Amino acid sequence: MVNFTRLLSFVAFVVASARADLAIYTDSAIATGWDNWSWNSEINFTATDVAQGTSSISITSQAWSAASFKSPAAFTTEYAGLKFDYPVKTPDISISFADSTGDASTPGIPLSQFPKTPGPVGWNTVLVDFAATPPNGVPLPEGHWDRINFQAAANGATYHLDNISLVSEIVVTPKFLSAEPLGDRLVAVTTEGPVDFSKLSATLNGKAVSFTARHTEVPADSPKKSITYFTLGASLSQGTLVIKAGDASFSYALPAALRTTIGTTAKVINPLVYGVNWPPSASYIKNIGVTASRWGGNAVSTYNPQGDFTNAGSDWFFQNRGHENADEWVGWVKGAGSATMLTIPGLDWVSKDSTSYSFSRTEYPNQQTWDPYNADSGNGRLANGTFVTPPPDPKRAYTPWTPAQAKTWLAGMKNKPTILFVDNEIEIASETHHDVHPELMGYDEELKRVLDFSKVAKEAQPNVQIAAPSTCSWWFYWTSVIGYTDNAAHGGQDFVPWFLDKMRAAEKTAGKRLLDWLDLHYYYQPDTSADDAPARAKRLRMTRSLWDPTYVDESWIGENPPQSQQPDATKVQLIPRIKALIEKHYPGTKYMISEWAAHGTDVIAGLVTVDSLGIFGKFGLDAATYWVHPPEGSAVATAYWLFRGYGTYFGTQSLPVTVTNGSPDLLGVYAAKGTGTGNSLVVVNKDPSKPLALNVSGLASGNYFIRHFGGGAGVAKWQTRAKLNSTSYIVVPAYTALFLLKIQE
Ligand SMILES: *[C@@H]1O[C@H](CO)[C@@H](O)[C@H](O)[C@H]1NC(C)=O
Ligand SMILES: *[C@@H]1O[C@H](CO)[C@@H](O)[C@H](O)[C@H]1NC(C)=O
Ligand SMILES: *[C@@H]1O[C@H](CO)[C@@H](O)[C@H](O)[C@H]1NC(C)=O
Ligand SMILES: *[C@@H]1O[C@H](CO)[C@@H](O)[C@H](O)[C@H]1NC(C)=O
Ligand SMILES: *[C@@H]1O[C@H](CO)[C@@H](O)[C@H](O)[C@H]1NC(C)=O
Ligand SMILES: *[C@@H]1O[C@H](CO)[C@@H](O)[C@H](O)[C@H]1NC(C)=O
Repeated sequence: MVNFTRLLSFVAFVVASARADLAIYTDSAIATGWDNWSWNSEINFTATDVAQGTSSISITSQAWSAASFKSPAAFTTEYAGLKFDYPVKTPDISISFADSTGDASTPGIPLSQFPKTPGPVGWNTVLVDFAATPPNGVPLPEGHWDRINFQAAANGATYHLDNISLVSEIVVTPKFLSAEPLGDRLVAVTTEGPVDFSKLSATLNGKAVSFTARHTEVPADSPKKSITYFTLGASLSQGTLVIKAGDASFSYALPAALRTTIGTTAKVINPLVYGVNWPPSASYIKNIGVTASRWGGNAVSTYNPQGDFTNAGSDWFFQNRGHENADEWVGWVKGAGSATMLTIPGLDWVSKDSTSYSFSRTEYPNQQTWDPYNADSGNGRLANGTFVTPPPDPKRAYTPWTPAQAKTWLAGMKNKPTILFVDNEIEIASETHHDVHPELMGYDEELKRVLDFSKVAKEAQPNVQIAAPSTCSWWFYWTSVIGYTDNAAHGGQDFVPWFLDKMRAAEKTAGKRLLDWLDLHYYYQPDTSADDAPARAKRLRMTRSLWDPTYVDESWIGENPPQSQQPDATKVQLIPRIKALIEKHYPGTKYMISEWAAHGTDVIAGLVTVDSLGIFGKFGLDAATYWVHPPEGSAVATAYWLFRGYGTYFGTQSLPVTVTNGSPDLLGVYAAKGTGTGNSLVVVNKDPSKPLALNVSGLASGNYFIRHFGGGAGVAKWQTRAKLNSTSYIVVPAYTALFLLKIQE
């Protein structure tokens, strides 16, 4: 039944000026003036196999290829959005806008992230609002956009499109999206369009509570969608809270407060734990508060500073390409206020130009896959996945590299990095850089390479710190690609403790440290690909592997531990375990995780990141850099902002926190003392549907700056202020991370 009251009270909110919509494709042809700029794709503008009306466009794109339509002029400032239809099964494609006069492009947004409405039977209609794009409702970046790309992912895509048009206006129906309790007497209301706030009311345990004040405070680069904070006439408390907002009603069961105690024994948090790999810009570093930036990953193992070339290795057909200059990179990253971490190539070859590749069809006709953009360039493997033989001549794509050359390069740098790494995941070079290092790397070779390059690095840059061996995973912490015969040949010792012993001995000989940082990559191992409720809960639990001596890893590590001499090998308890190994084998060495990630990009990934950053600080990790940098506005980057955005920081000294009856599967609470500012607190509610509440003994009475993201409010940089004290009943909504900082008065 149609709700007439609702239709009558409907107020249209029109964005952008009135002009006609512009058809790009309707029936059988692309509109006059528009060009087909597709690549590696079969496009039929008169397909009738799947069509409504006369015909549709059928598209079959190879991996990473696109159906691409070019407009005669830039359109993004003239139109409010893009509209099109596609059959209901959503293909794996991303939509981006590009500038045909340069190489600028917006990030590709997966089609699955756009809201869709049912069109004719069997079809969906998608409206891309240029003022609010997924996932977080931010406007399209500024640009001369005159090209629309529908780009396939790794597996290619076959699908149809119909009725593509630019729309002149988008009508936003005023709507209350969420209204959530927050802190001890706030309600955070997210809305779309000009809602009538007088239609807001609340009851707590059946009794009306008034709204006494309202205010909005949002940082500059937050989305167009807005949030408004209302202060309630009474504090929140255990029971049932019902908020009515227009036609919508939101109901919450507020639980008993978890009694939380902040202790006094402070431990310094190493500021370098808030790092990322490859920050995209200086403003990125400043906005989300990046403290450490790493130039790392597979390609830079073959970086040639003479000409700035790298080779993609097994990540992309062992092809060379041009690369940013390392010296300049250190310069601008340092200028933005971040520590810099640079990788020294540690194999015998570096890339010789920006075009060569190792496995040509002429030389190796039988290869498993070929570059979709270069039919002569293969992945170096036979159909069954083993590498072709004999290995290629390294001179095809590379030029020799020695410690002496590294020394010349490092000595000549105008901008000196804070930390130098000897290579990256060098233990698996026989896979990633098979074309130049087909032999399996064992303990001895790895040690020799670290020593050879760290010696020259310290000669060239006496103040630099050295990090190694940047091992790729838990498995190779304990053995090499040769396997256990290699352990056996080294007194049965696991790799990491053996390596630390050797580097300690090397310090004696050299008269100085040749290793300042033990760097080990860590990716959470549980399989969470099902993305159902149990898999999501597992993602939020798996952070326990960083610290918890009782947590059995929910992966192959927990079931089938590798042959290692380590005690309790099914319980990772990573940070305490590695710190204990360092204490035993080479005390004074710092511990870094220069690659880690949170599984995915959704709000859960943001919450996992908040929890991980909290744990890094609390358990005394010395540095960490996320792989690879999370885009600004994403859930993961918003987690960094929560701790560090715009110069407002979580404290510098971790304080112990006890939560009576708090389970680490359902919440994380981190506290820290600041310098100059008051104590700060970060809370993560891992429950998908229930708010949590806590009271915090030791929380100084006064005004607090509050940041949060997640829950009904969605992922955005939301912030406000409120008065709190140690008796306050503090509510954290479901799937939300909250930051509190006492403001100095
Ligand atoms: C559009 O361009 C692609 C790529 O060049 C080409 O394969 C396809 O045949 C073109 N389709 C039409 C209908 O022009
Ligand atoms: C395009 O599709 C129509 C209808 O299915 C078909 O008749 C025509 O041959 C197709 N064109 C090409 C170039 O495949
Ligand atoms: C596309 O537009 C035509 C003409 O308005 C209409 O007949 C057809 O149903 C539309 N197709 C889809 C898939 O919406
Ligand atoms: C905190 O909450 C618990 C109940 O959950 C309560 O017993 C206790 O009195 C509260 N403490 C403060 C200081 O409000
Ligand atoms: C892969 O195929 C090659 C060539 O047929 C063969 O020599 C090799 O033994 C195979 N490797 C495996 C692991 O099956
Ligand atoms: C603490 O805050 C509560 C409201 O949350 C208020 O009723 C109480 O008076 C405050 N106590 C102090 C000591 O400020």
